[in-house]
Amino acid sequence: MTKRVINLNPGPSAVPLEVLKIVQEELLDYRGTGMSILESSHRSPEFEEINDQTIALVRELLGLGENYHVLFMTGGASTQFALVPMNFLGPGQVGAYVDTGEWPSKALKECKLLGGAHLAFSSKAEGYRRVPKMNEIKWPENAAYLHVCSNNTIEGTQFHEFPDTGKVPLVCDMSSDIASRRFDFTKFALIFAGAQKNLGPSGVTLVAIRDDFMARCKEGLPTMFTYRTYAKEKSLYNTPPVFGVYFMKLVLEWIKRQGGLAGIEKINRAKQDLLYRTIDSHAEFYRGTAEKESRSWMNVTVRLPNEDLEKKFIKEAKAGGIVGVKGHRSVGGIRFSIYNAVTLEDVQKTVEFMERFRKAN
Ligand SMILES: Cc1ncc(COP(=O)(O)O)c(C=O)c1O
Repeated sequence: MTKRVINLNPGPSAVPLEVLKIVQEELLDYRGTGMSILESSHRSPEFEEINDQTIALVRELLGLGENYHVLFMTGGASTQFALVPMNFLGPGQVGAYVDTGEWPSKALKECKLLGGAHLAFSSKAEGYRRVPKMNEIKWPENAAYLHVCSNNTIEGTQFHEFPDTGKVPLVCDMSSDIASRRFDFTKFALIFAGAQKNLGPSGVTLVAIRDDFMARCKEGLPTMFTYRTYAKEKSLYNTPPVFGVYFMKLVLEWIKRQGGLAGIEKINRAKQDLLYRTIDSHAEFYRGTAEKESRSWMNVTVRLPNEDLEKKFIKEAKAGGIVGVKGHRSVGGIRFSIYNAVTLEDVQKTVEFMERFRKAN
């Protein structure tokens, strides 16, 4: 029998078992073609259909209209950190950044390399324990956009509302919480997300850009570095990450079968509720690191009474079939990454382990 663990890795991370089985079944013969989708041309009718369907599914699930260009790119979310300022910083403009953790601060660094950057908020001095209240975010007149990171994977914080930026386009790194809950995605002029948490394997980055923002995209950039190429060619100018797009389509179809974002949100709400209740009921042992109002539904971060106990926790969790709970190397501690593919049952088993571990220690 195949061994499967409770996979709480931060990314790449768990994908739905149902999807893995479909991939396995279709791997040798994709729908009667006699070959894997990995082996077929990206110009084949089979792949063109996958590409079109994936674009349509993204629009449908996120509630984005035809006025959004849906793109599949490579280079991870980290490449987007550079491409956004490269494409959208006009003369005399600055990129405004909300610094809520390691990832948005890396985005800010890229912007500084390419032009002017403005710090619109930072919780760095508070150890990144929270995201801002909406009235704490300030951007200047000449902001080309405001960049936020909706979920801070490392620090375990998440935005539960987003600022109204008026004329200033709102750009969002949704790498670690895309398609995990409902909200008005049309607030955003540009969304990007590496696929490897909620959308499938690493290697493909989802980007959605609203028409009016796309119109401001600079001319004259190298072909592969301008969003215009991807929008114009439906991400098929060069060889796209075929397997990633195919996989993303299957994951999006799986989300649809869970009742779309409403269904997924319900499950995710129950998962985080159970985990945070367990933590709060024994706050002397499991110390949540994020402020309550900023807590992430996707990455739950805690410290134990000391580092030796944390090491023991990680080791015993693994022996009990729960893997990936070591906090990021920059912050330490314990992190439970409970993305879409982690089931409520997985979280139930995890809190049972937490209870046993606490009592024994
Ligand atoms: C919120 C966030 N942004 C960006 C990144 C970087 O993504 P990539 O490794 O795809 O460049 C990560 C990776 O974990 C992330 O969690």
